[in-house]
Amino acid sequence: MTGPVGVGIVGAGVISQTYLENLTSFPDVKVVAIGDVIPERAKAKAEEHGVPAWGTLEDVLSNPDVELVVNLTIPQVHIEVSSAAIAAGKHVWTEKPLGLDREGARQLLADAAAKGVRVGSAPDTILGPGFQTAKRAINEGVIGQPLFVQTAFQTQGPDLWHPEPAFLFANGAGPLLDMGPYYFSALVSLLGPIAGVAARGSRFRTERTIHTGPRAGETFPVEVPSSVQVLSSFEGGQHGTHLVSFDSALERHGVVEIHGTEGSIVLPDPNMFAGRTAYVKPLGVLRDGMKTEQEWIEVEQQGTVVGRGLGVLDMVRAIAEDRPHVATGELGFHVLDVLLSAQASAETGAYLEIESTVAPVPAVPADFDPFAQTLV
Ligand SMILES: NC(=O)c1ccc[n+]([C@@H]2O[C@H](COP(=O)([O-])OP(=O)(O)OC[C@H]3O[C@@H](n4cnc5c(N)ncnc54)[C@H](O)[C@@H]3O)[C@@H](O)[C@H]2O)c1
Repeated sequence: MTGPVGVGIVGAGVISQTYLENLTSFPDVKVVAIGDVIPERAKAKAEEHGVPAWGTLEDVLSNPDVELVVNLTIPQVHIEVSSAAIAAGKHVWTEKPLGLDREGARQLLADAAAKGVRVGSAPDTILGPGFQTAKRAINEGVIGQPLFVQTAFQTQGPDLWHPEPAFLFANGAGPLLDMGPYYFSALVSLLGPIAGVAARGSRFRTERTIHTGPRAGETFPVEVPSSVQVLSSFEGGQHGTHLVSFDSALERHGVVEIHGTEGSIVLPDPNMFAGRTAYVKPLGVLRDGMKTEQEWIEVEQQGTVVGRGLGVLDMVRAIAEDRPHVATGELGFHVLDVLLSAQASAETGAYLEIESTVAPVPAVPADFDPFAQTLV
């Protein structure tokens, strides 16, 4: 590769807007084509963002200027679209989850290795300055050795705001596979692989209603549990509790707390690229047995905040520099394995050991500048 890397986007839906805004602003990336199974959608996005070519998946894959495909289709076709891109000799960045099942995802990674192309998997929030600031603070020892974690994501559900929400309640999504990747990718990239999970979950309604857009009022089926509580064991010895729910009237999300031998830290919302990192130290001796206020120590966020597309940018630079990228397919696979195991445990009640593992996830330097031109 020399100069900015040619990127082709497949899937011109809701999330393509933010990807297009960001990827077209990075000097190291050139968005050269966009495709969709509904080509008119691709055309509209191409015109809006000055992308020179648009059409179908096949049009993107046969475009010689496309070196890396960004897969923004729905989870149900992630493997199909990513596999086609790999077969065409393209590197792939895919939205989460990597796939719906372990077999398909494992085969995808094997095919990529055989072809000598790379796979990157969302979320790329783990590359954001918010999470990276927290990771640096934890690695510097502000809470000592991490002991246990708590995370919470609870909302009324995306059927309130997404115009086509059925896929978010279908096999391959639900709060576990749709939101779980943010929380578990963050935790695994901090603490290392997860060794086992147990979970409880419920599908409180079998049908839900679209609330916004042209199909408002239509109903669709709920295929997976819409609220799940997971208990996790990390290979490093820590344990965690994790709530994911699309059924809570009390909206509260982005809760990530890590408790260590020398303090407790709150991290930014793992679905965001920026946010607050702060920690408290143990109280020590209670004054008069009455001290209830703890002093928060704020950690200043370092780095340039952009948003979705950072993972693609890191991939193209990593390929050029011949170094590992941060949000790898292997990380995506391990997280998928954990989430599928949690889903199975929610159905059977069993504690399930996780077979897959993942290498330590590299940190992003604080001076990582998305707007620098590094590829010439
Ligand atoms: N919407 C969000 O806020 C959000 C946030 C982060 C990640 N994501 C992820 O991004 C992905 C897309 O989500 P979305 O909300 O943009 O969905 P969406 O339904 O709005 O868009 C998906 C697009 O993919 C196209 N598509 C479907 N099958 C295709 C195929 N075989 N070939 C080519 N195009 C195909 C559809 O026509 C549609 O335009 C999902 O994996 C989702 O988990 C979404």
